Amino acid sequence: METEGKTDHAAIWKKMEEQVDAGRTKTIGLSNYTMAQIQTVLKSARIKPANLQVELHVYLQQPALVDFCKKNGITVVAYCPLGSPGYNNFLKSLGQEPKELPDILADPVVAKIAKKHSKTPAQISKDETETAAAINAALEAGYRHIDTAYRYENEKIIGKVLKEWFASGKLKREDVFITTKLPLHAVHPDRVEPFMKKSLKNLGLDYVDLYLIHFPIGFKYDEGTEKLKINEKGEIETEGKTDHAAIWKKMEEQVDAGRAKTIGLSNYTIAQIQTVLKSARIKPANLQVEIHVYFQQHPLVDFCHKNGITVVAYSPLGSPGYNKFLKNMGQEPKELPDILADPVVGKIAKKHSKTPAQVVLRFLIQRGLAPIPKSVTPKRLQENINVFDFVLDDGDFKELLKLDLGEKGRVCDFKLFKGIQNHPDFPVKG
Ligand SMILES: NC(=O)c1ccc[n+]([C@@H]2O[C@H](COP(=O)([O-])OP(=O)(O)OC[C@H]3O[C@@H](n4cnc5c(N)ncnc54)[C@H](OP(=O)(O)O)[C@@H]3O)[C@@H](O)[C@H]2O)c1
Repeated sequence: METEGKTDHAAIWKKMEEQVDAGRTKTIGLSNYTMAQIQTVLKSARIKPANLQVELHVYLQQPALVDFCKKNGITVVAYCPLGSPGYNNFLKSLGQEPKELPDILADPVVAKIAKKHSKTPAQISKDETETAAAINAALEAGYRHIDTAYRYENEKIIGKVLKEWFASGKLKREDVFITTKLPLHAVHPDRVEPFMKKSLKNLGLDYVDLYLIHFPIGFKYDEGTEKLKINEKGEIETEGKTDHAAIWKKMEEQVDAGRAKTIGLSNYTIAQIQTVLKSARIKPANLQVEIHVYFQQHPLVDFCHKNGITVVAYSPLGSPGYNKFLKNMGQEPKELPDILADPVVGKIAKKHSKTPAQVVLRFLIQRGLAPIPKSVTPKRLQENINVFDFVLDDGDFKELLKLDLGEKGRVCDFKLFKGIQNHPDFPVKG
């Protein structure tokens, strides 16, 4: 093949820009460019590339390239998202020999996840690419605490990204704090150890820094598919009254065995924590519950702090994406509080030249809590960690305290699990 020699990226890009000026195309972009080549284009560009189109699928996730594009405001189109199973036909049409192709759609991990969700392997791979890019962007931005759960089905991809960071020498295991959780269908003394081991295997780790019981109620499940059992009334089948002492004993054994550095609880009430404390040899190190300016949970936080239990605030922004989650679960959307549009939050944000998200996160930090905001957007990941260079004064703090709506402010009420409201351990009142 004869080429035109070394490519003059700047000159070609100038001509691309002229196509926008002339109105022949709305945007211009690149395909199959490396990071260095994109940087060369960016240096001389008057109109930045809007898009990069590259091969991207579960076997070729290109996290560094994706992250670079996101940071530079370049959207990424993933071509061959299924691994191009027809690629050999294309080679044949060019008179070329076929080559050995990766068979993503026959990958046992993809197939297992597909079966679990009653989806095809082709429908599964997108989420993993997004999660990998988000974890890479978060680690680049300086996040060191990753909150996952067996139930979130992202432990494997998180483990894979961590493995790459450890192998590159950019991070050591002890630099990160990994939390995962005993799923709802394993809240049973016999299931703590096997599910702890499953999570470690998924994550590719020898230990987690914190292992939490995700919820104070155990659900029945089908061992093959791990789907929750539903009775003829459409209600979730539970394991009955939870034996907190017996389950906690098994959690303590995970610390003894070195599988968890610390253990804790999630979505537990004061009464339930008291029950655990009564029999505990190793005290819960942490409670993870929903907390934000509209749902401040002062009595629960005070109780934990008095008992030396740290508190992690989940949904710290009020979970603006909660309806997407409900939709994925086949549920009706619900009306959500819009914390980030609250005028009081907005006023305080303006005063400190910060964003509403930064103000509500800072409020939680100044309350002695650890907020865990979630984002797949690199710009927001940066925004949400950039909260250590300002302090809310007493006036701001008092105004934010007044925004508490109590139970009415709760977003994550677990009522999507039909029938569990009547369970004696259901932790949501009201
Ligand atoms: N233990 C439990 O039972 C439990 C329950 C719920 C959640 N959690 C944990 O808590 C984490 C966070 O909770 P969450 O996702 O419910 O709520 P959240 O962190 O309050 O809200 C996340 C949503 O806010 C958006 N967002 C993030 N930063 C933003 C910003 N600066 N400005 C505007 N929007 C922003 C995100 O969108 P993009 O991603 O599109 O940027 C996403 O839709 C979860 O990831 C999970 O680890 C635990």
